[in-house]
Amino acid sequence: MLLATTLIFLKIAHCHFLQTRENALQRVFFTQEEYTAMLRLYNKKQEEESQVDKIACDWMKDNPQVWSQWKPSDLNVKMELYIGGIFPISGPSYKSGPGMVPAAQMAVDAINRNETILRDYDLKLLVADGQCSADMVMKSFIDYLRFKHFNRMVGILGPACSETVESVAGVSKRFKTIAISYSAQGSSFSDRDKFPYFFRTIGETGQFKYVFLTLLQQLGWKRVGALMSDGKKYSDYVTTVQDYAESNKITFVTTRKITSSSSLEYLKDLKAKRVKIIVGEFNEERACEVMCQAYRLNMTAREGYIWFLPNFNSELLQSFKPLWYDVDRRVNQSNRSLEAIPCSTEQIIRAIDGHFYMTYSSYAPNESLMQEGTNVSDWRRRYEFQCARFNTSTSEYASYIYDSVWTYALALDKLLKGNESLAADFHTDHTTELVHKHAHKL
Ligand SMILES: *[C@@H]1O[C@H](CO)[C@@H](O)[C@H](O)[C@H]1NC(C)=O
Ligand SMILES: *[C@@H]1O[C@H](CO)[C@@H](O)[C@H](O)[C@H]1NC(C)=O
Ligand SMILES: *[C@@H]1O[C@H](CO)[C@@H](O)[C@H](O)[C@H]1NC(C)=O
Ligand SMILES: *[C@@H]1O[C@H](CO)[C@@H](O)[C@H](O)[C@H]1NC(C)=O
Ligand SMILES: *[C@@H]1O[C@H](CO)[C@@H](O)[C@H](O)[C@H]1NC(C)=O
Ligand SMILES: *[C@@H]1O[C@H](CO)[C@@H](O)[C@H](O)[C@H]1NC(C)=O
Ligand SMILES: *[C@@H]1O[C@H](CO)[C@@H](O)[C@H](O)[C@H]1NC(C)=O
Ligand SMILES: *[C@@H]1O[C@H](CO)[C@@H](O)[C@H](O)[C@H]1NC(C)=O
Repeated sequence: MLLATTLIFLKIAHCHFLQTRENALQRVFFTQEEYTAMLRLYNKKQEEESQVDKIACDWMKDNPQVWSQWKPSDLNVKMELYIGGIFPISGPSYKSGPGMVPAAQMAVDAINRNETILRDYDLKLLVADGQCSADMVMKSFIDYLRFKHFNRMVGILGPACSETVESVAGVSKRFKTIAISYSAQGSSFSDRDKFPYFFRTIGETGQFKYVFLTLLQQLGWKRVGALMSDGKKYSDYVTTVQDYAESNKITFVTTRKITSSSSLEYLKDLKAKRVKIIVGEFNEERACEVMCQAYRLNMTAREGYIWFLPNFNSELLQSFKPLWYDVDRRVNQSNRSLEAIPCSTEQIIRAIDGHFYMTYSSYAPNESLMQEGTNVSDWRRRYEFQCARFNTSTSEYASYIYDSVWTYALALDKLLKGNESLAADFHTDHTTELVHKHAHKL
């Protein structure tokens, strides 16, 4: 059966393109519906007599709108390839997402302008709003699966927020679809076996341990204490830092998993042991609680304590919610009793004044050259201009988004230079594996 349909395909293609250039053939595509309709036609005709020519002709008579797209006059039109962007554009907990889209579009434009990379193709960016929420991200992904040119969509650009990655990274394997995130930093997706088709251009938080330890060594700080929330997400990080530190002659005097009832006791313990450098790994609420106690125990930077807190200031955590340390507002909005955190916002600000956190640099040095041949400083100026044009703020992940798009383009370029026919479907085992391999090598 499959052979027969293939024969019909070839017949149609052959008849039609006898007089035209050979590369016309690579433009022949059938959607699932068209394919099924053809099968039906074949089944019907089979009862009469198996005439492939006739079926081909009938099909062509019935479907001029399909094959007219393959006509030679269209040969100058480049074949479109798609990237399915998922960005947090709207939603209750996010505000600077729109600035992400211009960054991606600038990369797409640069690639389409480029005379060597994907020369015969027209790269298109699709934009979906994942809202930084797991269900909206999943919906965007499903919409892409149903996109009529899904076969020519090389993969997903995103999602942005770590909490929304797991579902997409998990199912992307089933749908043979690559996903490249530009901002999800959580270390739980680094398992290559579990998430073989998930990539990212931003580093994972676990890599901060090298920065952290280099800093400690530079400053000659040797005794460290760690407090972390219960739960795998936080304990993993501190544990790996600790293992690495101890082989570098830095002592973790105490490492504690805290709950709201035990944090006071552990802080007192750190004070008694004269531990002055404290690494905290917890969420915003726990951070407010702990820093409030530090304030009351005179354990802040004013008294010579060094606090390393998580980066609560990243664009993805910023929101219409109050700032993370603004306990007055937080308590007001979440409608919980004030007793939870017996400090005012002003006191928390005094407690966290002078704390350290680690973050990524958003850009390479201004003079470094980018893929498109201009330097970073020039690119940033153009990017700011684009954002101003669309009335959006710039995104701190712009360069990671830009690089993700290029990763797709370079992998695709390698893939299609090897075999142009692979553009017919990017979601076969064979093709996905090749894209995966090329992306991996970049
Ligand atoms: C903190 O310092 C203040 C002023 O020096 C002092 O009055 C207070 O007793 C100290 N509190 C603790 C818990 O050490
Ligand atoms: C908290 O809410 C009360 C009543 O809704 C309001 O009067 C007060 O100004 C709010 N405080 C802050 C810091 O927003
Ligand atoms: C806060 O709690 C009070 C009573 O406990 C309730 O009437 C009010 O609707 C709550 N407000 C919000 C915003 O949840
Ligand atoms: C970037 O390139 C422009 C010319 O395109 C040059 O004028 C500028 O000095 C360069 N900036 C840096 C930081 O290298
Ligand atoms: C096209 O892309 C390649 C690969 O990044 C780069 O080496 C080349 O300079 C680009 N050409 C132009 C004109 O941007
Ligand atoms: C790099 O260039 C951008 C835009 O051109 C500018 O805003 C920024 O201050 C420059 N950074 C440095 C370190 O010079
Ligand atoms: C741009 O955004 C600002 C603030 O969000 C708004 O006041 C202004 O009307 C917007 N301008 C345009 C042209 O959309
Ligand atoms: C190109 O890919 C197609 C589709 O997977 C395959 O049938 C064909 O054999 C490949 N050609 C070469 C030269 O590898």
